[in-house]
Amino acid sequence: MLHGDIGLELGQRVAGALKAALDVEITPEQAIVRPSAPGRGADYQCNAAMSLGKQVGKSPRELAQLIVDHLDAADIVTTPEIAGPGFINFTLTESWLAAEARTLLSDDRLGVPATDDPGRYVIDYSSPNVAKEMHIGHVRTTVIGDCFVRLLEFAGHEVIRRNHLGDWGTPFGMLIEHLLDEGWTAESASSIADLDGFYKAARVKFDSEPEFAERARARVVKLQGGDEQTLTLWRGLVAESEKHFAEIYRLLGVKLTKEDSIGESFYNPFLADTVEELTAKGLTKISDGALCVFPPGFVNREKEPLPIIVRKSDGGATYGTTDLAGVRYWTQERKVTDLLYVVGLPQQQHFQMVFAVGEQAGWLDGDHRARYLGFGSILGSDGKMFRTRAGGTVKFIDVLTEAVDRAAEVVRGRAELDAQEQAEVARAVGIGAVKYADLSTDREKDYVFDWDKMLATEGNTSVYLQYANARILSVLRKAEREPGDEILVEQAAERALVLKLLQFPAALAGSVETYAPHKLCGYLYETATAFSSFYENCPILKADTEERQASRLALARLTSRTLVLGLSLLGIDAPTRL
Ligand code: ARG
Repeated sequence: MLHGDIGLELGQRVAGALKAALDVEITPEQAIVRPSAPGRGADYQCNAAMSLGKQVGKSPRELAQLIVDHLDAADIVTTPEIAGPGFINFTLTESWLAAEARTLLSDDRLGVPATDDPGRYVIDYSSPNVAKEMHIGHVRTTVIGDCFVRLLEFAGHEVIRRNHLGDWGTPFGMLIEHLLDEGWTAESASSIADLDGFYKAARVKFDSEPEFAERARARVVKLQGGDEQTLTLWRGLVAESEKHFAEIYRLLGVKLTKEDSIGESFYNPFLADTVEELTAKGLTKISDGALCVFPPGFVNREKEPLPIIVRKSDGGATYGTTDLAGVRYWTQERKVTDLLYVVGLPQQQHFQMVFAVGEQAGWLDGDHRARYLGFGSILGSDGKMFRTRAGGTVKFIDVLTEAVDRAAEVVRGRAELDAQEQAEVARAVGIGAVKYADLSTDREKDYVFDWDKMLATEGNTSVYLQYANARILSVLRKAEREPGDEILVEQAAERALVLKLLQFPAALAGSVETYAPHKLCGYLYETATAFSSFYENCPILKADTEERQASRLALARLTSRTLVLGLSLLGIDAPTRL
């Protein structure tokens, strides 16, 4: 298959027919060939006759007939049928399905083509704040961002991971003063166990003791001025926080490492030039003593233009200055083609404004694109923000620990696993459940955090997929022969499974194009259920001929490889025994 995508393959043939019949040129995408709804009696459906009829001066049915008459696709489909106002229904032939499935047996990429237009992506994700513990609010950005890294790398792009740590700004004055008051040094700072407690104590002091607040402000000036003692203490705090972040990333199995920490402070050397360039391009204005950029089209409720402040009246830079410096740095210095930002929906407008200014400044254009990828909230069973029973913020680390503990209950007592394996499986199941619950929800929607639902062994969960895979592997172990290298497509359930397996490239492409991991999740779930009805209807170990057995074992292995690859792109491990 040329495209790895059956719909595009047929689209190409439809385009060929149009060219032959009317000398009209369209792309395979414009042929609009999609999988048919279940129960329609066909595999794919072409909708192009409806959208193109007018353009070529024919009724949709006439045009559909012309396409069918000129179609050269007998190697793929049986004679197409025209239905309703002018749909063309395609049914794939068993011999084509069998031959295509056979090519997958020896293809590491399971039919997925590498991109022919590789880009250089930088993905801003996770991005917690220093001197604070990661909490439930960081789960989605970390899990979704990591999935994008994997999907884009697999597609063949260069991907730079960017952990935009909040490691700079006014809070550090108060944190460093508090550090000194409490007798910490730069070395010992990297052993503050209770970061949140430390932050809160500093904040309380800042709010209640004017003398402390005064010192804190003076300390910010020292920090920004590059005072060595202050910087050393600051580094201690950052190092301590990074230890905490690294522990979470390790437990979670995401690809972020210390090398990916490119925090706000990184952009300090570029801030002045960024502001200068914006000013030179005539984009800045003084407003209330602050230097601002007003990107067109952004107004507040009173319809007054909204600014990004790039230099406060006290001369300091802001969160916005840093993000603008970031757009400039990544596009101009590092020549990335695509900037992605996986940040919660409350910051949507901020990024829209930053991108608008980036375009005005000429940093963003057709070759350097920025895209904001927001996500909904994680809710508790009461439909409000997910909180602890006591009403506090849920710590990220506690979610992970509880997930693994609960998963241990699910897998406990499996006779075939020793203690060490049980622990590994519990980790894969527990962490997988947290990730999958997140990824299988439409990114922009909220979802309710529900342990029982995410760890259910039936339904669209990672545990279900992990079980399905482990069961397949157990069948393969029990078999007395190796899977064959021919595929037979005989039974309906067999045919349905083969078709599903061949749809992996299209499912993946759909997920990547719209940054929608839930589409891949849905596909994997359908694949696992297709396998389970194949397994019920088509005996494998007890197949009546050797040929059938060899083919069914090959299909079983192909299904397992699809599930394992799909899960790995979501960042989820698939234990071999479960
Ligand atoms: N540290 C910020 C927060 O916790 C998120 C940073 C997002 N990335 C960015 N480039 N502004 O809200």
